[in-house]
Amino acid sequence: MLKSKHIAVYVSGGIAAYKSLEVVRALIKQHAEVQVVMTKSAQEFVTPLTFATLSTRPVLTDNFTPQSSSDDFIPHIKIARWTDLAVVVPATADIIAKMANGISDDLATTSLMATDAPKIVFPAMNTSMWNYPPVQKNLKTLEEIGIQVVQPDSGFLAEGESGKGRLVQLPVIMDAIESKLSSDQSLLGKKVIVTAGGTKEPLDPVRFLGNNSSGKMGIAMAESAARSGADVTLITTVNYSSSYRNLAVVKVDSALNMLEQIQNRFEKIDVLVMAAAIADFRPLHVATQKIKKTADNDNYTIELTKNPDILKTVAKNKINQFVVGFAAETENLIPNAEKKLKSKNADVILANDVSNLDAGFNVDTNRITLISHNAHPDNWPLMTKQAVADKFWKYYLKQGN
Ligand code: CTP
Repeated sequence: MLKSKHIAVYVSGGIAAYKSLEVVRALIKQHAEVQVVMTKSAQEFVTPLTFATLSTRPVLTDNFTPQSSSDDFIPHIKIARWTDLAVVVPATADIIAKMANGISDDLATTSLMATDAPKIVFPAMNTSMWNYPPVQKNLKTLEEIGIQVVQPDSGFLAEGESGKGRLVQLPVIMDAIESKLSSDQSLLGKKVIVTAGGTKEPLDPVRFLGNNSSGKMGIAMAESAARSGADVTLITTVNYSSSYRNLAVVKVDSALNMLEQIQNRFEKIDVLVMAAAIADFRPLHVATQKIKKTADNDNYTIELTKNPDILKTVAKNKINQFVVGFAAETENLIPNAEKKLKSKNADVILANDVSNLDAGFNVDTNRITLISHNAHPDNWPLMTKQAVADKFWKYYLKQGN
């Protein structure tokens, strides 16, 4: 259930900092994506390199110097948007005080304040500090503003004393993380179809006309919906095996094949997301045997016929279904996408300029403009396809669905 979840692990400076290495390792083992953020004092206990090695990502610290020209200059906003869940482990009295009082004097506290994601704090400190009334007051404030505080254990402390203040054990930390994430079941009960990949239009038994679509955007849409509890069917031309119990895969090849699979299910679904790159034309004649080259013939002409517009065909009959199209454009992005919104009877078009190298076909990022009927076009920043997917489902829910 942690697969592909974006978990930001904030490490503050206490002796228990070394224990959060185990947390990062356990999260990575469960295929979560982990971004570690360390305070200055945490780096006195464990080096960023150790966390970077375990999390397979550079650790964010207060070094605001971009490492490369593509790095973001505002890392606290970037990490804030990226995060599905923020955990502060260990949480010192200092970081707890800052979080409770709106103090943001380093990257960790600024990012924690900037993120809307749910947060869990795992305190670890000396018993006397734990019992100090202002610390207790700050913990109460955190709980009042919706931040979960996991009470520390009692036992032997690093300073040689015994009492309350030990960081809880790894299984307790992992349980808290899992149950926090599983509480986002915002799409539970929704039936969703997502299409992905480029269609393959047969020419003869061994050849087809195809395109370069990787299916990444559609797969991200399907997985994101599945993580939020939707019952998802991914109708796709690409090889993909689902590791989600609630994400079924239907393999198709041609546009006609894809249309049939959607029509079989359309009546019963709540949302259709057409992320597939569908060939507008298919060979008119499909040879029953492999087409041979002949000595007298240097050119070969293939006659094409129009494929149905799948989105338009199914959206014509929509009752309550929410229908989402994509628009791949190389010029006049917004006017062209607005035309598609109306002509195809879609509820939303996610438009992207595929002439940009960092958006569209075969890359992991996308830059979307959301086009809908009653609002101005909404330009989203360059984001990973997964972030686009998560943002889209949040938008969908905000529409009152
Ligand atoms: N689409 C579809 N059936 C087609 C072609 C496209 O359902 N035969 C869907 C795509 O899945 C996408 C949307 O329509 O959600 C827009 O696709 P796009 O390729 O941008 O536009 P086209 O309608 O093909 O128009 P054009 O190629 O002229 O831009």
